[in-house]
Amino acid sequence: MKIVFATNNQNKINEVQAQLPKHITLLSLESIGCTEEIPETANTLEGNALQKALYVKQKYGYDCFADDTGLEVESLYGAPGVYSARYAGNQRNGEENIDKLLVKLDHKKNRNAQFKTVIALVFEEKEILFTGICQGEITTTRKGDKGFGYDAVFLPKGFSNTFAEMDLAQKNTIGHRGNAVRKLIAYFVQK
Ligand code: IMP
Repeated sequence: MKIVFATNNQNKINEVQAQLPKHITLLSLESIGCTEEIPETANTLEGNALQKALYVKQKYGYDCFADDTGLEVESLYGAPGVYSARYAGNQRNGEENIDKLLVKLDHKKNRNAQFKTVIALVFEEKEILFTGICQGEITTTRKGDKGFGYDAVFLPKGFSNTFAEMDLAQKNTIGHRGNAVRKLIAYFVQK
């Protein structure tokens, strides 16, 4: 079965492909000729994920799924949330986003946070949402050099390593996206 994962982020394609059963082949946006930027104008993770999946279905005709992820920090009332990619500005710079987050949390005792991934699947005329959460806390300094985004400052609950100190397999096992992807896979398996 061929299905489009509506993303241009190769890190995410690798993460998800590693967890998919062999009979499901992921097509990237590039491989279907979609090179334009897909609009993400909703103000929720659910809205953005669905907007992206519907865009590909309507314009290119493929069944597809799209994800949207946000880092929700308790003492910042859920920020940066849906705005995680652009937290420090439209340049979408991961390092600047972390710098801003660490400044906002300076001297804050409560550093609880969670990553939330929503996957929207548009498949056989149905629209289905899958949610994955990973709870943890924000460290005071960066640790590790793997991963991307906020990985270097996210310490998942019950672990002593940040996401950036873990290999991909371990991050997939405990992480938000892996969690949502397993729900997506379970949906295909029980069909
Ligand atoms: P996206 O909408 O799924 O691309 O995610 C939005 C932003 O959240 C990204 O630009 C990253 O800054 C951050 N993000 C998403 N997933 C992860 C992750 O697994 N680790 C660290 N940061 C992430």
